[in-house]
Amino acid sequence: MATEVFAPAKINLTLHVTGQRSDGYHLLDSLVVFADFGDRLRVTPASEMSITVTGPFAEGVPLDQRNLCWRAAELFGETVSIELEKNLPHAAGIGGGSSDAAAVISAMEQIFDRAIQGDPLALGADVPVCAVGKAVRMQGIGDQLGLCHFPPLCAVLVNPGVLVPTPLVFQGLTSKENPGMGALPQPDVPSDVWDWLVSQRNDLQAPAIAAQPVIGGVLEGLSGLAGVRLARMSGSGATCFGIFEHAEFAKQAAQHIQKAHPDWWVRAVQLS
Ligand code: C5P
Repeated sequence: MATEVFAPAKINLTLHVTGQRSDGYHLLDSLVVFADFGDRLRVTPASEMSITVTGPFAEGVPLDQRNLCWRAAELFGETVSIELEKNLPHAAGIGGGSSDAAAVISAMEQIFDRAIQGDPLALGADVPVCAVGKAVRMQGIGDQLGLCHFPPLCAVLVNPGVLVPTPLVFQGLTSKENPGMGALPQPDVPSDVWDWLVSQRNDLQAPAIAAQPVIGGVLEGLSGLAGVRLARMSGSGATCFGIFEHAEFAKQAAQHIQKAHPDWWVRAVQLS
């Protein structure tokens, strides 16, 4: 019997790089939320592993062990057939592959009625946070997770279609020891939430813009739109998000950007 799971886009509302370990991995302090838009998967027990991919971003998705979904199933220790509807751009800072892997683990836990025994962190720093799937503060290298109360936000996601390799962006940091987020705001006081969000950072944004200047153009474009409160990059890029006062502003902004840049990926979403 097939099990269907949703793999939402992951958005780093903030991403502070607070240090670096001796093995090279960076210490982070990040508030992560999830969109109501993402990939969809069907996982079915099978005598051997297989992956089929459909959807607007199917092209170039590996159909073997290079696919994080495949490695997630191997880590779980059973063979399944995976049907992946790829709606999210890849290598885009919104956790597409990590969210797919977390969704495969969730489906397999349901199918085989047991918890995974291996450590999902072995699949990538973003897999554990994607397994949570709701507002969470991520610290350490992605291994320390704390659930948060954070109000839902209306946003527009914009990806200009350029690739920024994550290791390159980390290497471009001018400072590896930056302040963390401090205390989170009261979720039920909107002015506190806005002021706090605006005062935070994504430390990877500057090196990503240096690698792909179009990201700076995306952020400038988002910042000038009606009803926008904040424009920032997610993860190591290149996807950026604008946070809007309400859903109607976000919808209008998405239409405006898509019309001006038909080749960019643009989505109005709710984040929670
Ligand atoms: O774990 P993941 O595959 O997402 O990481 C990709 C690369 O990003 C790592 O090989 C590493 O160069 C860099 N990275 C890092 N510190 C982190 C997460 C990722 O330096 N906390």
